[in-house]
Amino acid sequence: MALVTTKEMFKKAYNGGYAVGAFNINNMEIIQAITEAASENKSPVILQVSAGARKYAKHAYLMALVEAAVKDTGIDLALHLDHGEDFEICKACIDGGFTSVMIDGSKHNFKDNIEITKKVVDYAHAHGVVVEGELGKLAGVEDDVNVSEDDAMYTNPEEVEEFVTKTGVDSLAIAIGTSHGAFKFKGEPRLRFDILEKIAKLLPGFPIVLHGASSVIPELVDEINAYGGKMDGAQGVPEVMLRRAASMAVCKINIDSDIRLAFTAGVRRVFAKEPEVFDPRGYLKVAREEVKKMVTHKIANVLGSNGKA
Ligand code: G3H
Ligand code: 13P
Ligand code: ZN
Repeated sequence: MALVTTKEMFKKAYNGGYAVGAFNINNMEIIQAITEAASENKSPVILQVSAGARKYAKHAYLMALVEAAVKDTGIDLALHLDHGEDFEICKACIDGGFTSVMIDGSKHNFKDNIEITKKVVDYAHAHGVVVEGELGKLAGVEDDVNVSEDDAMYTNPEEVEEFVTKTGVDSLAIAIGTSHGAFKFKGEPRLRFDILEKIAKLLPGFPIVLHGASSVIPELVDEINAYGGKMDGAQGVPEVMLRRAASMAVCKINIDSDIRLAFTAGVRRVFAKEPEVFDPRGYLKVAREEVKKMVTHKIANVLGSNGKA
C-alpha cells in the first residue's frame, strides 16, 4: 500500500455521492487515530498538513510517521499540504514526498491568484502531484492570513470556469459560508447551496472542496466546558448540511477543529477524573481514542465514505 494522489479518490467520490475526509495532522497520536479509523472502516482518507503543523512537528517527522501509518494499517492515503501560501512551500512539499498540495491564492486578486496557482500546477503536475486551488475567501483565520468577517466573500460562480481552465487545478476550494475554527456562526448556520449548485453545473464532474467543515460536535464542547474548558458559543456546520454537500459536488471535506475538540476533551477528562495520572501515555492514549471515535463517526455518518476504499 502506498501514498496516492486524490485523483481516483475524487472520481469515485463524485460518482458515488460521498466525500473524502481531509483531516489535519500534527502528531503521532492524531495520525494513528485517523488512519486506524480509516483502515477499520475501509474508507479513503486524506491526511493534511498546515504550515503551522510543519513548523510544530517538522516535515521529516510527519513524513516518517505517515509512511509508518501506511505500513502499519495497509491503507492507501493521500498526503496533502493545507493552505500553501506561496510557491516555495508547495515546492518543498512536492519535493518532500507529498502527493497533493493546496496553493491558497485567495488573498490575491483574481489575476494574481491565477498566476501563482498556475505556477504551482505546472511544477506539481511535472512531478505527479495534484493541486487544490481556492476562489473566494472564508471568514476567520486561514493560517497566517487573517480574513475578517466583513471581508468574507463568497465564491463568484462566474469566475470558476476561467480559473480552472487557466490554472489547470485538479480541485477547487470554494467559499459558501463555512469558516475555520470552533466559532463559525453567531446565529443560525447558513450555507449558500445555491452557489455550490451553480458551480457544479458549470463544472460537471469537477471535485469541489469544503474548508472550515467541522461540525464542532456539541457533546465534545460540553465535555470540555464541564471539565474546566471555556468554549461557550462554539458552533459548527450542522452534519446534515455537510452530508448534503457530500452528496453534491463536494468531494473533500476538511476537518481540523473537531480533532482538536476530541483530543482536548479526552485530555481534560483524564486530568479531571484521574488527577494522579502524570504519565503522558495515560492521557494521550485517551485523546487518541477520542479522535479515532470522532473520525469513525464522520466516516459513517457525515462523509458516507465507509466501505469505499
Ligand atoms: O485551516 C486551518 C487549519 O485548521 C490548520 O490550522 O494553521 O493552526 O495548523 P493551523
Ligand atoms: P475546521 O476549522 O472547520 O476544522 O476547518 C479545517 C480546515 O478547513 C483546514 O483547512
Ligand atoms: Zn482550510
